[in-house]
Amino acid sequence: MPGTVIVGTQWGDEGKGKFTDLLSKEMSVVARYQGGHNAGHTLVVGEETFKLQLTPSGVLYDHIVPVIGNGVVVDPFVLLKEKEMLESRGISTRRLVVSGNAHLILPYHQQLDALHERHLGKSKLGTTKRGIGPAYADKSMRLGIRVQDLLDEDIFREKLHAALGHTNKILTKVFNRLAVDPDELADRVLSECLDGVGPHIGDSIDVIHTALEAGQHVLFEGAQATFLDLDHGTYPFVTSSNPIAGGACAGAGVGPKDLNRIIGIAKAYVTRVGSGPFPTELFDAVGDHLVDVGREFGTNTGRRRRTGWFDAVMLRHAARVNGLTEVALTKLDILDQLAEVKICVAYDIDGSRVEHMPYHQSELHRATPIYETMPGWQTDLSHVTEPDQLPDAAKAYLDRLQTEIGVPITLASTGPARSQFFHWS
Ligand code: GDP
Ligand code: IMO
Ligand code: MG
Repeated sequence: MPGTVIVGTQWGDEGKGKFTDLLSKEMSVVARYQGGHNAGHTLVVGEETFKLQLTPSGVLYDHIVPVIGNGVVVDPFVLLKEKEMLESRGISTRRLVVSGNAHLILPYHQQLDALHERHLGKSKLGTTKRGIGPAYADKSMRLGIRVQDLLDEDIFREKLHAALGHTNKILTKVFNRLAVDPDELADRVLSECLDGVGPHIGDSIDVIHTALEAGQHVLFEGAQATFLDLDHGTYPFVTSSNPIAGGACAGAGVGPKDLNRIIGIAKAYVTRVGSGPFPTELFDAVGDHLVDVGREFGTNTGRRRRTGWFDAVMLRHAARVNGLTEVALTKLDILDQLAEVKICVAYDIDGSRVEHMPYHQSELHRATPIYETMPGWQTDLSHVTEPDQLPDAAKAYLDRLQTEIGVPITLASTGPARSQFFHWS
């Protein structure tokens, strides 16, 4: 039963979309298992660029069944817009299946997300303001509304009344805002979304397991990343779901033994959007160079990403919590022009050398990176499709990374296009 997980190993935007698209050739089903439209996954096919927030990145292939799993939070308005965008560009979304158990993001979740951030002031998380946190909070409070509720108007209205009975008190009494009328919102959602979303609502568990039982390949496409994971990330500067590979079990309804290939996607350096600790962050010309050459601006929100050197301590931790069987390295080409490249191999915390992610986060805030510096290759790698074509310095960098991570780097990418990658170890 071949299940593959693609999981971000850093703070997101590692290139999960590119590798999901690339591996989709061999898959039958591609399923998202967590997050929502806070994700922005970029696929470059020939002259065309697709930026997907909710639809699984396998959608470009006719043979794939794209699935939005139960663990995803779905804004129905965004889903419809994305569907229209894809259809208008000649991509069929007919086969898309949205789990009836996935929860809805409604406009009041987005309003609450923005209000929470405003009230946190200096302590704000820097969320994408897509309503992710409030939608998962409602799910945990048992006040969430599920995608399947759209199919029964009475239930939908009843649940909206119950949810807003609670939320309106917060909006009006805590945040001094107007209450949301449940019936007006129900009218709007049902009239604008039901026709478009309704035909996609289905039994995602059956779709996934029928494929697995037939020996077909299923890819679970993680959004966000290990260090944005609600349990394993740099809390509270995290998202509100479990992007780690194990999240695929809960968020798509598969058992751990269905997952046999866990591919961690890692950038050849590190980026982060939003607040939170970042030991290898650069505030110098090299950091600016990585932003400029790597075009490090959010796919989704357009925000400038923070940049830093590759952090092997993070990757070793990601290897543990995800059970990585391999790593796919992206954006190696962005280091092409640098005279030297650095790898953080350990942290110095209060004078001690620490090689594993510290358990207490306050230590991570005090961690300073211990670097190993290697010569750069100063060669354009964008045309490399075979490892033999690599200059020795780039080979040495990959070898060193692999040793430090302790997991084989099987694939490396040297540009955004499908053809720009090579197999490594
Ligand atoms: P995701 O959220 O993990 O899917 O990543 P994003 O799409 O948000 O950000 C990754 C960006 O890097 C996108 O613009 C990709 O097209 C681009 N990209 C992916 N792999 C490579 C690569 O190897 N080299 C370069 N130059 N760009 C890449
Ligand atoms: P992909 O899938 C990078 C970050 C936000 C913020 C934190 C919480 O494209 O890698 P949220 O809106 O989720 O409550 O925000 O998480 N964040 C991402 N950063 N890539 C993403 O997705 C992200 N999704 C959320 O910037 O710091
Ligand atoms: Mg992204």
